[in-house]
Amino acid sequence: MDKRDFFSSEDVTVINEDVFKTKKIPAQSIDLIITSPPYNVDIKYNSHDDQLTYEEYLDFSKRWMKRCFGWLKNDGRFCLNIPLDKNKGGQQSVGANLTTIAKKIGFSYHSTIIWNEGNISRRTAWGSWASASAPYVIAPVELIVVLYKKSWKKTSGSRISDITRDEFLAWTNGLWTFNGERKKTIGHPAPFPVELPMRCMKLFSFVGDTVLDPFMGSGTTLVAASRCNRKAAGIEIDPQYCKIAAQRIEDDHIPKR
Ligand SMILES: C[S@@+](CC[C@H](N)C(=O)[O-])C[C@H]1O[C@@H](n2cnc3c(N)ncnc32)[C@H](O)[C@@H]1O
Repeated sequence: MDKRDFFSSEDVTVINEDVFKTKKIPAQSIDLIITSPPYNVDIKYNSHDDQLTYEEYLDFSKRWMKRCFGWLKNDGRFCLNIPLDKNKGGQQSVGANLTTIAKKIGFSYHSTIIWNEGNISRRTAWGSWASASAPYVIAPVELIVVLYKKSWKKTSGSRISDITRDEFLAWTNGLWTFNGERKKTIGHPAPFPVELPMRCMKLFSFVGDTVLDPFMGSGTTLVAASRCNRKAAGIEIDPQYCKIAAQRIEDDHIPKR
């Protein structure tokens, strides 16, 4: 990685750039991509309009996923955290549509993990209350769609795994239950909890691998990477979120002996 970035330590790099423009990630250099892109549900980000038409959103998704495809190694993996569906501004099958787009780009499908967010309630609309007229059904879950570039069997890297027996048993059951993250604590409108990228990293990458989050936000993936001894880069368009990420990584850093 280029050392003149916004923030850079030996193993972690924050890139304050647009995912569509950055030239800082070399082709075929990434072992694992973990990301939660904007969901297009009118979240008030500092520097991103989260209110595209659905067609525009699908085109946006196609363009950034194409870049990710180029950045991954041939045995690289892609953990895509997205909603199952969307009800604001019209019902849409976001999970199915984005998975189809990823496959058209060239990704192969491996599996989908259902993340049950526990106590975080997204309930805002009931449709027709207690009536069959037009009720809304909303599942309080998100998806982590697991895809890969060419080969599912991972041959590159250290081949050292740090997942315990109990973690492996629990996490290979594709129903994950843990709480979402508090926006106020982190200072970002849509952070995921460290648990999410940490599980993906230990399950799908080796110690020392390089992880990328192309929509880094407050840097949660980079915090997890630094805890799990992975190298990591995060791309984020907003300088304020990059500052938050840099601070979180510094605050979290436990010097290695
Ligand atoms: C859902 S949030 C990611 C949150 C992150 N997982 C965390 O834990 O903080 C999506 C992020 O993508 C950023 N973003 C939107 N468009 C972008 C672009 N074109 N290039 C880079 N980042 C972008 C937004 O500013 C926002 O911080």
